[in-house]
Amino acid sequence: MTLLNTCTDLNSLKKMLKFTALATLFSASFSVFAEPVEIKFSHVVAENTPKGQMALKFKELVEQRLPGEYQVNVFPNSQLFGDNNELSALLLNDVQFVAPSLSKFERYTKKLQIFDLPFLFKDMDAVNRFQQSESGQNLLNSMKRKGIVGLGYLHNGMKQFSASSPLVLPTDANGKKFRIMASDVLAAQFQAVDAIPVKKPFSEVFTLLQTRAIDGQENTWSNIYSKKFYEVQSHITESNHGVLDYMVVTSNTFWKSLPGDKRKVIKAALDEAVAYGNDIAAAKVDKDKQAIIDSNRSEITYLTPEQRAAWVSAMKPVWAQFEDKIGKDLIDAAVASNK
Ligand code: LMR
Repeated sequence: MTLLNTCTDLNSLKKMLKFTALATLFSASFSVFAEPVEIKFSHVVAENTPKGQMALKFKELVEQRLPGEYQVNVFPNSQLFGDNNELSALLLNDVQFVAPSLSKFERYTKKLQIFDLPFLFKDMDAVNRFQQSESGQNLLNSMKRKGIVGLGYLHNGMKQFSASSPLVLPTDANGKKFRIMASDVLAAQFQAVDAIPVKKPFSEVFTLLQTRAIDGQENTWSNIYSKKFYEVQSHITESNHGVLDYMVVTSNTFWKSLPGDKRKVIKAALDEAVAYGNDIAAAKVDKDKQAIIDSNRSEITYLTPEQRAAWVSAMKPVWAQFEDKIGKDLIDAAVASNK
């Protein structure tokens, strides 16, 4: 009886060992052949821009730190999604990261309209101070209820006006058509100088300018250079009248689906990539501006203090138009960041 029992135990032990060995082998070979999880990062600009470079750095860091587990595929130049659909694609989890300019979130929050108020920030240091302040950091959560999580700000720079004729005084913009991003504040900004704002996606701007379907646009030195707008705009005014920065966002669904430890690594990689992109943004202001000057394709207008003051007084009334939606406290906090 005892001998029989011992034999049965031995047999089942053997079976168990066999099963465990097989299971280990199976799971090892499974993890060898398992595909890494794909993370898509889509954006609308060229690769030689702060955002383009930031996205590539993010890919490099995530794949270096989570090898074989995650693969980041970056789609630049509106290849995958453009201005009209990148945020809805994010909410459908068709893409996991996008970084639209702060002007493009209007459908999801009115609070971010603050960044479009003309002549609000005196320079990029002031923009940065505001973004890093408590009010600025709170804005990262302003779309949470809509399912969008703000992970950080990325700089591009101050915007300049460009057109097919010189823009020295606000009256020079009268009756001219300007492409704008989909923002009511930007529309009001151009209406304030009796110009005609036309909301169009970034991917269409070059052709619209080239065919003279529109007269001008506003953008950073980096975007004017990398998308060759300077080749089809005879004049650029160094106005520094507004800011074009980004919010890197993901969807609540995707973010929550990540295991906590992986989410931490991915967020740290993103923070580092953003810091890298910000350095590039700072360097590009002078570099891309100089490249445009050297090309001799576009004449640059440098405003005198009096000329600039005329633009300020024409456009600043826009603030009052949006004060209720944005909130006076927020506007005051932004103004305070100029000190
Ligand atoms: C634009 O549409 O002009 C910009 O938002 C493009 C960009 O992402 O820099």
